[in-house]
Amino acid sequence: MKILGIEHIGIATESIDKIAPFWKQVLKLNHTHRETVDKEGVITDIYDTGRGKVELLEKIGQESSIAKFLEKRGQGIHHLCFEVDNIEEAITELKQAKIRLVNEIPTKGAEQNLVVFIHPESTGGVLVELAQKPK
Ligand code: CO
Repeated sequence: MKILGIEHIGIATESIDKIAPFWKQVLKLNHTHRETVDKEGVITDIYDTGRGKVELLEKIGQESSIAKFLEKRGQGIHHLCFEVDNIEEAITELKQAKIRLVNEIPTKGAEQNLVVFIHPESTGGVLVELAQKPK
């Protein structure tokens, strides 16, 4: 597997609208994308630093994994995302290494990326997302 860099840091928030001015106006990051991922029950709001992005995450509904995270841990860093060149190859290697995955089949995340999540149990406590960009 080849990691190409940090794609983004995902931050769980109670309200994107409330916190967006900090990222947009104070840090003056370039707001590149806002998307509702219905399947995951989440709204994503993405800012590009030029070297890795910040992804704000707000829940839709109580079944959302973000809802559960906020309830358990409160607002804060939710996951780290690394870009990989080939996600299928990454999954095969992770399974061979007995790494615990949240999903074994890549799903479509924000920005049309193919994504897979690695369970915090296998990473030292942080949910790790691997993403392959659309070709
Ligand atoms: Co993400």
